[in-house]
Amino acid sequence: MASYDVIVIGAGPGGYVAAIRCAQLGLKTACVEGRETLGGTCLNVGCIPSKALLHATHQLHEAEANFATMGLKAKAPTVDWKQMQAYKQDVVEQNTKGIEFLFKKNKIDWLKGWGSIPEAGKVKVGDELHEAKNIIVATGSEAASLPGVEIDEKVVVTSTGALELGKIPKKMVVIGAGVIGLEMGSVYARLGTQVTVVEFLDHITPGMDPEVQRTLQRILKKQGMDFILGAAVQKVDAGKTKATVSYKLRKDDSEAEIEADTVLVATGRRAYTDGLGLKDLGVELTDRGVIQTDDHWQTSVKGIYAIGDAVAGPMLAHKAEDEGMACAEVVAGKHGHVNYGVIPGVIYTWPEVASVGETEDTLKKSGRAYKAGKFSFMGNARAKAVFAGEGFVKILADKETDRILGAHIIGPGAGDLIHEVCVAMEFGASAQDLALTCHAHPTWSEAVREAALACGDGAIHA
Ligand code: NAI
Repeated sequence: MASYDVIVIGAGPGGYVAAIRCAQLGLKTACVEGRETLGGTCLNVGCIPSKALLHATHQLHEAEANFATMGLKAKAPTVDWKQMQAYKQDVVEQNTKGIEFLFKKNKIDWLKGWGSIPEAGKVKVGDELHEAKNIIVATGSEAASLPGVEIDEKVVVTSTGALELGKIPKKMVVIGAGVIGLEMGSVYARLGTQVTVVEFLDHITPGMDPEVQRTLQRILKKQGMDFILGAAVQKVDAGKTKATVSYKLRKDDSEAEIEADTVLVATGRRAYTDGLGLKDLGVELTDRGVIQTDDHWQTSVKGIYAIGDAVAGPMLAHKAEDEGMACAEVVAGKHGHVNYGVIPGVIYTWPEVASVGETEDTLKKSGRAYKAGKFSFMGNARAKAVFAGEGFVKILADKETDRILGAHIIGPGAGDLIHEVCVAMEFGASAQDLALTCHAHPTWSEAVREAALACGDGAIHA
C-alpha cells in the first residue's frame, strides 16, 4: 500500500493543477485518472479540441468572406474533414502529453484507473488501496440531458459527439443557446451546415449583458445561424440518420417540429460525483450531486476536499484551476484564496465575447449607483483593418468612486482583452486608472481604454 500526503482524484484542469501545486509545495502527491490521457474534459473533449475546430473553420470563413477584398485571389479552400479531425486530435495530444510531462517533472504518480474513497484517508484504484493524509476530489462534470431526449452520440450528441461527427451534417439543431451551443453551432455553420438553435429563454447566453446578447445574436444570424427563442424542447425522436425535435413555444403553447441530421444537446452540465462512495462517507452533497464545501474547499468530512465542476460555482476550467491552486495551498498549511468576483467568462465565437464582474442587471438589482462607459470597435482602427468593427467594450464603474465593477466585451480578441480589466479589478482600480494608462496604437486594447475614458470626460474616437 503506497502512502501519500495528497491524492487528487481527477486530472482535469482542477485536479492536475492541484496536483502540480501540491508537489511544488513539497507534498508527496498522486493523481488518479481513469481516462487514457490526462487533462480531463477540457483537454480531451472540451475547451481544447473545440478551439482547434473554431480556429480551422474561422480560417475557412476568412478565405470565403474576406480574402478577395484583401486582394488575395484564389478559389476558396475545400474541407478535408478527416484531416481537420486529425489536426484537432494532434492539438489534443500535444496538450495531454504536456500534462504527462509536467507530472513526471514534478514527481507526481499517475494512478491509472477510476478511484473511490472506501474510508477517509484511503483511495481505491482498481484492486489497489492507497493511503492519503488528504484527498482532493476533482471529478468534474458531465453533460446534462433533457427528459425525453436520449443521447446516442451519433445522431443526438453532446459536445463530445459533436467534436467527432463522422461527416459534416447538412442540417443541425442545437438545443440551448449557451456557450457550447454557440461555439459548436459556429463551427458547423462555418462548414456550411444549416444550424438552428432552439433556446428556452427569450434571449441567448443567459447571464450575459443584454446588449452583448443582442449584438452576438445579430452577428451570428448574419453568419447563417437561425434562432428559435422562447421554445422549450419537449422530446427528440431519433432514427439512424435523422432526428425530429419537438418544441413548444412558451408565448402561446403552440407546438412545432424541426428535422435535422444531427441534434446537439447543449443544455448544461452537472457535477460528476457518482461511484466515489461520497454518500456512504457522509460527505454532504446537494440533491443534484454537487459537493458541499466550506470556504477552504473542505467537505463535511475532514481531510477530504473538493474543487472545480464538482462543487458550486461556474463550470469553467480556469475557476477549477484557481481552486486547485488555492486548495493545494490550504492542504500545505498556507493561505489559499479565490476571488470569485473576478472570474472572467469567454465565448469563443467570432467575434469573441468576454465578461467579468457585475452586469447592469445585477447592479440594478442590488441598487448600486453605477455609470457605463461604452466604446464601439467601429472607432478602433485596428479592428476595421481585420473586418472586426462590429461589437463594443462596456465598462461599468461605481458612480461615486469610479471603481471598476465589471466589463463586457464583444469584439476581436475579447477573451484576451478582458484580462486587463481583471487585473485592474484585482487592484481595486478606477476607470480613470485604465484611462490614464498608455495603450499601444494600433491595438484592439485601445477600445478598452476608450471605454474607460467614456466613464469620465468621454472617449476620443467615439
Ligand atoms: P449553458 O448553461 O451555458 O446553456 C444551456 C442553455 O440551454 C441555456 O440557455 C438554457 O436556457 C437552455 N435550455 C435548457 N433547457 C432547455 C430546453 N428544454 N429547451 C431549450 N433550451 C433549453 O450550458 P452549456 O452551453 O451546455 O455549457 C455547459 C457548461 O460548460 C457551462 O457551465 C459553460 O460555462 C461550460 N463551458 C464553457 C466554455 C467556455 O468557457 N468557453 C465552453 C464550453 C462549455
